[in-house]
Amino acid sequence: MDASSAPDTPVGRAAANRRTFAIISHPDAGKTTLTEKLLLLGGAIHMAGQVKARGERRRTRSDWMQIEQQRGISVTTSVMTFEYDGVTYNLLDTPGHEDFSEDTYRTLTAVDSAIMVIDAARGIESQTRKLFEVCRLRDVPIVTFVNKIDREGRDPFEILDEIQETLALDTAPMSWPVGMGGILSGVYDLAGRRFLPYAKQGEHPEPIQAEPSDLGQYVADEQAAQLAEEAELAQEACPPFDLQAYREGHLTPVFFGSALKEFGVEELLANLGKIAPSPRTQPAEPKPVEPASEKVSGFVFKVQANMDPNHRDRIAYVRLVSGHFKRGMKLKQARTGKTMAVHNPIMFFAQDRDLAEEAWPGDVIGVPNHGTLRVGDTLVESGDTKFTGIPNFAPEILRRVRLDDPMRAKHLNRALEDLAEEGVTQVFRPVIDSSYIVGVVGQLQLDVLEQRIQSEYNVKAHFEPAPFDTARWVSCDDADKLKRFLDRNRSATALDRDEAPVYMARNFWDLGRIQEDWPDITFSATRERT
Ligand code: G4P
Repeated sequence: MDASSAPDTPVGRAAANRRTFAIISHPDAGKTTLTEKLLLLGGAIHMAGQVKARGERRRTRSDWMQIEQQRGISVTTSVMTFEYDGVTYNLLDTPGHEDFSEDTYRTLTAVDSAIMVIDAARGIESQTRKLFEVCRLRDVPIVTFVNKIDREGRDPFEILDEIQETLALDTAPMSWPVGMGGILSGVYDLAGRRFLPYAKQGEHPEPIQAEPSDLGQYVADEQAAQLAEEAELAQEACPPFDLQAYREGHLTPVFFGSALKEFGVEELLANLGKIAPSPRTQPAEPKPVEPASEKVSGFVFKVQANMDPNHRDRIAYVRLVSGHFKRGMKLKQARTGKTMAVHNPIMFFAQDRDLAEEAWPGDVIGVPNHGTLRVGDTLVESGDTKFTGIPNFAPEILRRVRLDDPMRAKHLNRALEDLAEEGVTQVFRPVIDSSYIVGVVGQLQLDVLEQRIQSEYNVKAHFEPAPFDTARWVSCDDADKLKRFLDRNRSATALDRDEAPVYMARNFWDLGRIQEDWPDITFSATRERT
């Protein structure tokens, strides 16, 4: 929804004014540093370096922080809200590094756009690519920030080529570095025909309106000549920025800068405000829900459990899709039909978190509950809307569950059912074997699973390597053909919690081969949660 097309109502205006986004990157590319600088620009923190420590200061002030303190649930950096130039930004943290999990992927189902941070010297790395593929599933528009140009990096053309080739994504350079590393002089704004000089951190020299060939008085002659040549070449080689192609996820505008030196970050944010989409219309049954709709609605994209085994409390992260939410409001859970009054929502706002009493489309609220809310749940003020499009993702680590005490089989069963429903793991039952196989996308998810099975269900179980590497949900329009496929591949077939058939592949080569052998079968890397 564009500001121009949004209805002129409080909800319409609030929605048009919001940008809910995530940052995707490989560890060490600079996500944390960029986050800090964005929050700094938004006035949400006053000194860089506070992202990790900033929980401390607020702890005494707000009652939701007490929830965190008493129950050990960390909500501090899951959602960061700030304002810049009249636009409200919600930055949703995508857990990375060692706590990479399905939550990382699911968070991307709750954003309207993403910033992809690439290290100028390293280019596209494995985790960036994985996260990008998840964005692609929903055509999430992506702005690229090539970071660390204050250090020696790759040739900009090489970086653009790599994005284009490895991600099959058109690139539209918006700025162009003038030198890199020790000889970095600035960046050139290709559309605005302005030169932004590189200065000491904290200094913001005025941009200089000039053609590249006229920059001789500001940079070395060779740099001006090289820029003139490269800028021309870049404009010939790359398509111009096209808002529609970006919004549809086919093209990424590319900015160059240095998060550490706060260089190029403000341009990135200003552009995000201009081009990134405001809250989208969300797919739902019986029909999609417009953000400007007056009725409050939202969906749960993540559930964070308490690590303290004495409490069964959870925080459900609800992305608001429509309406004007107020504290104390009653919302209906579509799956069960039950109504719950949301008295203690955790609101995420830049400044006065304590005073926050309301939320709008695109915002995220944390709803404390005792395990009633599950990932994928719809909450609505009234009516029978049910959101779709919050999928399970094909696991990347599969393990066979072995029970240490066979007498506890029933308990294990319940633990796995519960934890799967909550979204902690996926559970598969092989058709020729009675043991369970659990699937996760990150190692930590597995550790959490093992610990929770033991502490919350008092079941001792361990995980053994399964002879499979990955899984795909299988389907076919022709039921007979599907049955034939499943019969022929019984040893590699399992059923998920909803009895949907899954093909478990030994490796990617095996997956490729089976896909070639059975062209009519659809192998899907995601499956809608029911
Ligand atoms: P991440 O969240 O993506 O994992 O990356 P993070 O921001 O933590 O950055 C990883 C390292 O890269 C940090 O250095 C950080 O200072 C550095 N870095 C980030 N952006 C830039 C940049 O624009 N230029 C340069 N030269 N370095 C950058 P570190 O030594 O690992 O950590 P620290 O001791 O500085 O915190």
